[in-house]
Amino acid sequence: MAEIKATIGMIGLGVMGRNLLLNMVDHGFTVAGYDRDPEKVSALAKEGDEKWVSAQKTLGRFIACLEKPRKIMLLVPAGAPVDAVIEELLPNLEPGDLIIDGGNSYFEDTARRYRTLVDQGLSFLGVGVSGGEDGARRGPSLMPGGSSDAYPLVRPLFEKIAAKVDDAPCVTWLGPGAAGHYVKMVHNGIEYGLMQLIAESYDLMRRGFGFNNRRLQEIFRQWNRGALNSFLLEITADIFAQRDERTGQDLIDVILDVARQKGTGMWTTQSAMSLQVPIPVIDMAVMMRDLSGFKTERELAARALNVPVDPFPGNPEDLLVALEHALLAAMLLTYIQGMNMLKKASEAHEYGLNMAEVARIWRGGCIIRAAMLNDLRDAYLTQPGLANLLLDRSLVQQVTAWQKDLRRVLSFSVQLGIPTPALMAALAYFDSFRSGWLPTNLIQAQRDYFGAHTYERI
Ligand code: 6PG
Repeated sequence: MAEIKATIGMIGLGVMGRNLLLNMVDHGFTVAGYDRDPEKVSALAKEGDEKWVSAQKTLGRFIACLEKPRKIMLLVPAGAPVDAVIEELLPNLEPGDLIIDGGNSYFEDTARRYRTLVDQGLSFLGVGVSGGEDGARRGPSLMPGGSSDAYPLVRPLFEKIAAKVDDAPCVTWLGPGAAGHYVKMVHNGIEYGLMQLIAESYDLMRRGFGFNNRRLQEIFRQWNRGALNSFLLEITADIFAQRDERTGQDLIDVILDVARQKGTGMWTTQSAMSLQVPIPVIDMAVMMRDLSGFKTERELAARALNVPVDPFPGNPEDLLVALEHALLAAMLLTYIQGMNMLKKASEAHEYGLNMAEVARIWRGGCIIRAAMLNDLRDAYLTQPGLANLLLDRSLVQQVTAWQKDLRRVLSFSVQLGIPTPALMAALAYFDSFRSGWLPTNLIQAQRDYFGAHTYERI
């Protein structure tokens, strides 16, 4: 394709970069690809039609392939590799060229890169890309932020490659600076919360109700047909049907109970603490991944702290519908916490987020896509300035209808000693938020007593 200029260049031909590149080609865009690893470049050259794809082994040739102003997307691991690629690119770029970081970059890094690059006359977009490998290939949800004047350069391409819901692309301009990566970070925080809640439901059904994997598959599949409809429920049902090729056992039963993280969930929690906005379900989800890492100690403690528990009076299966409602309440409260956090962050960082649009672009392509996002979007469309979604009448009605069953399920888990910290955090948030009076007057009094911090009067 030497004589054809590519519309866009992709640096980083790992599975995400390659799939996103091929998605662009499917939609009629010419793309140049570059990776430090020549094998990845050769693989792309084999896979892509050379009329549309120019696979390059040197940065110089890659840059020479691009139409001007150059648009270069990076899909490399977050952190130092992003800075290293930018450093390498800089001497080859001209004012007006656009760098797009499509990784899960930390928003403070994105804010810094944005300032530095804009100062040099370049444009920069930090774009959250969600949907995993499959989403990148067939249609992700895209969360762009950064140089607003440069967004029109890629808008038609982004709108073509993004997932569609009701014919509308799951992408929108989010705001300046690090707005895109901030929204993606909170997306991932919500993702952690939902995954933990689903895992706790699995535990209740497995250890509490004694269900086998076939039954679990059926139940998650059935729940996914109702109000819980979501990508995470769908894949959870599939997971219970998967076999391990090596042993022939169910795959879930050969996977170690330790969950690691790349950092986005932890960053969400840290940022929420700095903003002083509560997101306890997400905090608990991060905490449980950390706690799961203490596998050796947990196994020792399982023997040393084997406390007796009373059996559950009655048939646990009677709680199945209650568990569905409990999960609905807790999932909705997790979205609510994440969205409330985004609203506060948008004010603090001056992102100017349109919250209804955030909910809209999360309805397709991304990992947290779910039917209930329609309700969240409607809430913001009705009251765009709503500070806490728990004040929306329709959402309140839903949580109120389900909270009773959340309490029933938690009584069961407490009685049996099955850990359900995220479900508990959801209920505790609900009960605290709806409490017009909290015992924090005592905390004020204590602070004043020992530290002369004074106190506010009623
Ligand atoms: C997505 C995912 C994706 C990835 C994260 C989460 O939206 O497509 O969130 O970005 O799965 O890296 O990974 P960790 O669980 O390791 O943080």
